[in-house]
Amino acid sequence: MDLRNDILETLGNTPMVRLSRYHRGGALLAAKLEFFNPGASVKDRIGIAMIEAAEREGLLRPGMTIVEPTSGNTGLGLAMAAVLKGYKLICTASSKISKEKVALLEAHGAQVIICPVDVASDDPRSYTKVAERIRDEQGAFLPYQYFNPANPGAHYETTGPEIWEQTDGQLTHWVAGIGTGGTISGVAKYLKERNPAIQVVGVDPVGSVYGFFLRHGHMPPPEELGLYLIDGIGQSYVPDSYWPDYIDDVVTVDDATAYRSIFELARTEAIFTGSSGGAAVWAAREVARRLPDDAFVVTLLPDSGERYLSKLNEEWLSQKGLDAALHDPPAQD
Ligand SMILES: Cc1ncc(COP(=O)(O)O)c(C=O)c1O
Repeated sequence: MDLRNDILETLGNTPMVRLSRYHRGGALLAAKLEFFNPGASVKDRIGIAMIEAAEREGLLRPGMTIVEPTSGNTGLGLAMAAVLKGYKLICTASSKISKEKVALLEAHGAQVIICPVDVASDDPRSYTKVAERIRDEQGAFLPYQYFNPANPGAHYETTGPEIWEQTDGQLTHWVAGIGTGGTISGVAKYLKERNPAIQVVGVDPVGSVYGFFLRHGHMPPPEELGLYLIDGIGQSYVPDSYWPDYIDDVVTVDDATAYRSIFELARTEAIFTGSSGGAAVWAAREVARRLPDDAFVVTLLPDSGERYLSKLNEEWLSQKGLDAALHDPPAQD
């Protein structure tokens, strides 16, 4: 028999696919497909990891409530672990969250509280401050992926070793989006410990801090922090879960480029990813195009476009002025 004891035993060991149609250049480009995880995103890895670390440390005990500010994917990772382990989960989310993610969280029994997206992160109405208030008022456990070492730790323990083994240690570049920074940082630490020559390139939306911070060594003025439409990456401050010492460069991507890339990837490789995946794969190809034929660039697609069908359609894209992405993904040059 080949039986798993629960759904989370299917976590990880996601496939890596060569992108020889999306990128026809000399250097090899491959993507690790994280929507093969049981909750269909990279964040399944950290949900269970943060919960089990808290249990080990005595911070989370039977009967307690978990509260987390999340753009949705971490919420689902936590929700799956909470169901299996018997915890109640409250997710606070910004109003940018897709309807699909809210429905998914509620389907798993989580309570979702929507908070305004257009307020500063220290505003009491922001999704992080609301989560902190619930922690204080209800004595809930707040994993706080932005400050939790088990977030990058999960990628150091699992994603990094998987990438090393899948590429037989041959990769030369690791390119990934930066949200909390957990994925890029944990993987980068593991890979650089194996081969310090591996170059690590972050992917950040226009109007986020990571690219700016790397170039200037300090935070941008608040008026330069814009709203962008790429889900799951970018930040307005540099959290502890981002380890800048392991990052060699950061590529900045605008909304139109990220959304166009989603459809170009779907129509060349039949791989349908979300907007953070669109941004990452575009940036990885830009990196690959500048490298010699013996280079090997690996990127990671955090989740699937199916999670955003309420956005990845004519009506929503037109409202946002992004409909060219759907009709006219750029041809390979
Ligand atoms: C869709 C999506 N892409 C990318 C990321 C970025 O991953 P990380 O937080 O590990 O930097 C996230 C994280 O929230 C995400 O939800």
